[in-house]
Amino acid sequence: MTCFLALIVASAFSIPLIAAQSIPVELYSPIIAQKLLKTAQSQSSPSSYPQYTNPGGNGSWDLFSADTWTSAFFSGELYLLNQRFTILCPGGAANVNGTDWIVDGQDWSEGLASLTTTNTLGHDVGFISQPFRDDVSLDYANTSAWDIVQGFNEDLSARFSPIVGCTKSWDGPTDNDFEVIMDNMQNLVLFLFTASLNGNQTLVDMAMSHANKTIENHVRADGSSFHVVDYDPTTGDVQWRGTAQGYSNSSTWSRGQAWGIYGFATMYNFTRVQTYLDTSRRMADYFVSNLPEAGVPYWDFDAPLSTSPTYDTSAATIAASGLLFLSTLESQQSPANTSGAQHWQQAAISLLSNTVQLGWQPGSDWDSLLSNGTVNNRADPPNNNTGIIYGDYYFIEAGNRLIQLGLADCSGAAGNGSSGSSGSSGGSPSASGSGASPSGSGKSATVSLKAPLAGILGVVTALLGAVSLSI
Ligand SMILES: *[C@@H]1O[C@H](CO)[C@@H](O)[C@H](O)[C@H]1NC(C)=O
Ligand SMILES: *[C@@H]1O[C@H](CO)[C@@H](O)[C@H](O)[C@H]1NC(C)=O
Ligand SMILES: *[C@@H]1O[C@H](CO)[C@@H](O)[C@H](O)[C@H]1NC(C)=O
Ligand SMILES: *[C@@H]1O[C@H](CO)[C@@H](O)[C@H](O)[C@H]1NC(C)=O
Ligand SMILES: *[C@@H]1O[C@H](CO)[C@@H](O)[C@H](O)[C@H]1NC(C)=O
Ligand SMILES: *[C@@H]1O[C@H](CO)[C@@H](O)[C@H](O)[C@H]1NC(C)=O
Ligand SMILES: *[C@@H]1O[C@H](CO)[C@@H](O)[C@H](O)[C@H]1NC(C)=O
Ligand SMILES: *[C@@H]1O[C@H](CO)[C@@H](O)[C@H](O)[C@H]1NC(C)=O
Ligand SMILES: *[C@@H]1O[C@H](CO)[C@@H](O)[C@H](O)[C@H]1NC(C)=O
Ligand SMILES: *[C@@H]1O[C@H](CO)[C@@H](O)[C@H](O)[C@H]1NC(C)=O
Ligand SMILES: *[C@@H]1O[C@H](CO)[C@@H](O)[C@H](O)[C@H]1NC(C)=O
Repeated sequence: MTCFLALIVASAFSIPLIAAQSIPVELYSPIIAQKLLKTAQSQSSPSSYPQYTNPGGNGSWDLFSADTWTSAFFSGELYLLNQRFTILCPGGAANVNGTDWIVDGQDWSEGLASLTTTNTLGHDVGFISQPFRDDVSLDYANTSAWDIVQGFNEDLSARFSPIVGCTKSWDGPTDNDFEVIMDNMQNLVLFLFTASLNGNQTLVDMAMSHANKTIENHVRADGSSFHVVDYDPTTGDVQWRGTAQGYSNSSTWSRGQAWGIYGFATMYNFTRVQTYLDTSRRMADYFVSNLPEAGVPYWDFDAPLSTSPTYDTSAATIAASGLLFLSTLESQQSPANTSGAQHWQQAAISLLSNTVQLGWQPGSDWDSLLSNGTVNNRADPPNNNTGIIYGDYYFIEAGNRLIQLGLADCSGAAGNGSSGSSGSSGGSPSASGSGASPSGSGKSATVSLKAPLAGILGVVTALLGAVSLSI
């Protein structure tokens, strides 16, 4: 494929130049739909869900119960293909055998609905709510999906402590621990999405309080981050900072850094509070500036150099989609921050391109799209070098974002970038995404995205303006 960005954007900021690379055609390969269909059809009434491929290396999905933080990603992938084939690229040519991806997506999320009643998911109800948020976005009149979203929302709000100012990520290890992990930033979208539809200011306050505390206590001055902060639940004081899944207590775990880039972009998208944009930029800058030579992160930014390093392609794809989101937010500045937008686009494309070179698995022996992800290198034995369901999810989402930005079409051919520079593609694969048009009508992406965006943004802006933000 031809390189769409002929020039490297002249860097007006302190970020090293990134070698220009072209959008990998694998993002739009028919293999994606084929593999997803194979997994979708592997169970008639799904009750176990892919998380990672077998650590033994044979490429087969290992399946987990519904009550697992990753159980909604496969359904989410099917919604992303619905978005791709009916909304972003209507007409059907690129779709496989006219598959109705919503039917399959709903089939794979049905078994998750009862988790609103009982679960052990902690903060991860945000991830689990994704397909139901997608159903709401597709049809605002779908009250059963809305009830489920509100159920998960109650779960997450029950985890908020006004003393600490955060939602608790994990329970334990003792009653004297209130552990908050960087990953939790990615679950705040549940509050923001819900508030944008029901106008509940308390939800926005909780999300902002959590985000503010995370800036204060997880993010370091150089834009890197701690994985875990343990607060004293009775005083709200920080009692420990360190890691659960990273290399050391003072290191930067790659996937946590990626969640932060994306989570703070989400905070800015809904609230327009400048400090969230700045934090997303700082975390992105650290991520992009500290990549090893292969252009894909090791499992931890501080993992020792080695002749056979262990990578995490899931951190790469989460960050790539987050960087494309950030790019859209730069375009939406007034005046548009075109050089910033192009810088993050180029960084995202490099990450995707290098990830494909390292981990694309076209063969039917691999159920996942990508390999070389690290689930948890601190597990015993370490769980690394596998395909990971969320790595694949954000790979597809990044592909959709590139189409929304006007940088590619569904065949992978280069676009002219016109929608990227105008900033009109502010929509998001993840919330609107999986079906940005409320009617699900498959009209052109630009037209169908704009109307709901304006309305929702209006509600949140009004909320922010109207009420005091203290908790
Ligand atoms: C599409 O349909 C054809 C004909 O029925 C079938 O052979 C093929 O396997 C289908 N493709 C997929 C990916 O299911
Ligand atoms: C891959 O290995 C797992 C664990 O041994 C096994 O359950 C699965 O059946 C294997 N897959 C294939 C295709 O052989
Ligand atoms: C409404 O959402 C529920 C829950 O996500 C889903 O099962 C159902 O199929 C949706 N209804 C329609 C008409 O899409
Ligand atoms: C807003 O959300 C909070 C937290 O879930 C809840 O306690 C409160 O009842 C909600 N307010 C309204 C008006 O629904
Ligand atoms: C969070 O920080 C923003 C920006 O500094 C501030 O406007 C807001 O009041 C804070 N909100 C909460 C709930 O702490
Ligand atoms: C982090 O610190 C805790 C307690 O101080 C310790 O038990 C743990 O082993 C440390 N983790 C790493 C990766 O060094
Ligand atoms: C444009 O974006 C870059 C990258 O995020 C940032 O460093 C720069 O400050 C932004 N410029 C303006 C005028 O906001
Ligand atoms: C990536 O994963 C594949 C499949 O497990 C493996 O063959 C390859 O060696 C891995 N590459 C690296 C650099 O670890
Ligand atoms: C990756 O996992 C393998 C198998 O569990 C282990 O031998 C290896 O040390 C791990 N890699 C790193 C960098 O720890
Ligand atoms: C870019 O493509 C869009 C959509 O296909 C089209 O409307 C627009 O005119 C094109 N712009 C340029 C400069 O070619
Ligand atoms: C960005 O905000 C708009 C509304 O302001 C919303 O429709 C869209 O889904 C948001 N994107 C993400 C990724 O949260």
